Amino acid sequence: MCKKPCLSNYSVYKLKGKRVFVRADLNDPVNEKGELIGDMRIRATLPTIGYLVGAGAKVIVASHMGRPKDKEAKYSLCSVKKYLSKTSPFKIHFVPSWGDEVKDTLKLLKDGEILLLQNLRFHPGETSNDEEFAKFLASLADIYVFEAFGTAHRKHASVVSLPKFLPSMIGFLTEKEINTINGLIEQAKKPFLFILGGKKISDKIRVFERLLDKAQIICIGGAMACTFFKALGYQVGKSFYEEDSLDVARAIMKKAEQRGCKLLLPQDVMVAKTISDNTETKYVSREEIPEDYQVVDIGPKTFEIYKKEINSANTILWNGPMGIYEIPKFSWGSKSIALTIGMSKAIKICGGGDTAEVLNSSNLISHFDHISTGGGAFLKFLEGSSLPALEAIS
Ligand code: 3PG
Repeated sequence: MCKKPCLSNYSVYKLKGKRVFVRADLNDPVNEKGELIGDMRIRATLPTIGYLVGAGAKVIVASHMGRPKDKEAKYSLCSVKKYLSKTSPFKIHFVPSWGDEVKDTLKLLKDGEILLLQNLRFHPGETSNDEEFAKFLASLADIYVFEAFGTAHRKHASVVSLPKFLPSMIGFLTEKEINTINGLIEQAKKPFLFILGGKKISDKIRVFERLLDKAQIICIGGAMACTFFKALGYQVGKSFYEEDSLDVARAIMKKAEQRGCKLLLPQDVMVAKTISDNTETKYVSREEIPEDYQVVDIGPKTFEIYKKEINSANTILWNGPMGIYEIPKFSWGSKSIALTIGMSKAIKICGGGDTAEVLNSSNLISHFDHISTGGGAFLKFLEGSSLPALEAIS
């Protein structure tokens, strides 16, 4: 159970009239026109915002969006203001800049209303973790609620410095993320299956370290499979692989064997001539990847093997697609794995933006017990590393 001060334990009677600063992660994708094309993180934050509004607090909501170079208009939180105005009953004031208007608008805020601030990364003090900026943010509020689990690994002003200056606690979403992910790993009902895809082994070495001890089976997919193939001496054609991680891949396979964890690699794969939807593709065994092709998905034989593991698992944790799922022709493996997990009887959790997107595009969100809003933060948490945001809340 989470040992941090939590909004869920804080008396609702103390919230009326209080200025509550909610550091959210509303970093959902936008198109070039700055229109939202996803809303998973915003929706995940709504219970906390709605609760505070209902309790009569003056709710100050702040988030980053994207990694803006200067103040790129498409990353303005104006998109979130439009979204919330359309889909919620909240009364929202939006301040489009970081000037004096912030304090001026705050003075107009009534109990139960929301002040949405501009993208925190439009202010240079956010990413440089400037203490003066943190003090300015603190001067706007009486209480701080950290609700940006997806940003918990960043040492930014609104994440690690701001809570030094206000009574601080974590919100409902962050509490759920911590309890669900920890609970799943520490008390997993066996067999515990970990399905891991994505590009690089090097990003996930410590995740392997931790989960080799906890999971009974690990199924590998995505480009990282090619680094394992190469480490086993197979040719991978034009596929991406990590030359520098071949020894790491060998060490992981050895450790898995020593610790009695079944580590499964794809037996067959889809290969393509180019990365486009109208390219030539074929299924080949992993020993026969042609020189002028690259691996873009798992094959049907692999799917059948992974399906058996999914159907006999009692706990499943999934991070990382099985291939280049963004291209419809290469998405079969990821979508079939998503569907099979979704239909299984196991407790199932997934994390990482790409993995969540596979579920979203397959309408499988509701079939999962928990979908983490974290990408990098989810991996750090899986590793068992401490997250600066949580350290800051004492
Ligand atoms: C994410 O998308 O993982 C979080 O919002 C953090 O964003 P960042 O990686 O740009 O810091």
